[in-house]
Amino acid sequence: MSMKKIRVYGDPVLREKAKPVEGIDESIDQLVRDMFSVLEIEGGIGLAANQIGVPLRVIIVSAPSDDGTRIELALVNPVITSAEGWLEHEEGCLSVPGIYEEVRRRAKVTVEGLQLSGERYEAGYEDLPATVFQHEIDHLDGVLFVDRISPLKRRLLEKELSKIAREEG
Ligand code: CO
Repeated sequence: MSMKKIRVYGDPVLREKAKPVEGIDESIDQLVRDMFSVLEIEGGIGLAANQIGVPLRVIIVSAPSDDGTRIELALVNPVITSAEGWLEHEEGCLSVPGIYEEVRRRAKVTVEGLQLSGERYEAGYEDLPATVFQHEIDHLDGVLFVDRISPLKRRLLEKELSKIAREEG
């Protein structure tokens, strides 16, 4: 198995708008396997393909759901098609190590996309899973959770973020 490295704040691939997947083939299956193995090694509840350097619209989620089961899902070309309400969760990100901040996001979302089988997927999520899907889909647009905190909090983090970027570069 190829070892993929997590791309860290300061890496330009995290700021790229990822491209839609045109067809689900073996390379996408392999990408998803790589993503799940990185997530397992690094620990985390979700990952976007550009976090391992592949600017394609693919996310995985491996998170506890409200009913006590787990969500284990890979989605290709995911989009949020409806949203309701607002909430705040403390978020972190494997690409922004050591930083945790409350982020205000939609409380309930409908997520659509394609499964690896090529079948259409549509489901509603709320609370933590809703946050995870929004966080991962943001990655595909080059948006990081630290972009969604207040300007004041962001200023306070600037030094720490530049340090992460310097160590990366
Ligand atoms: Co992240």
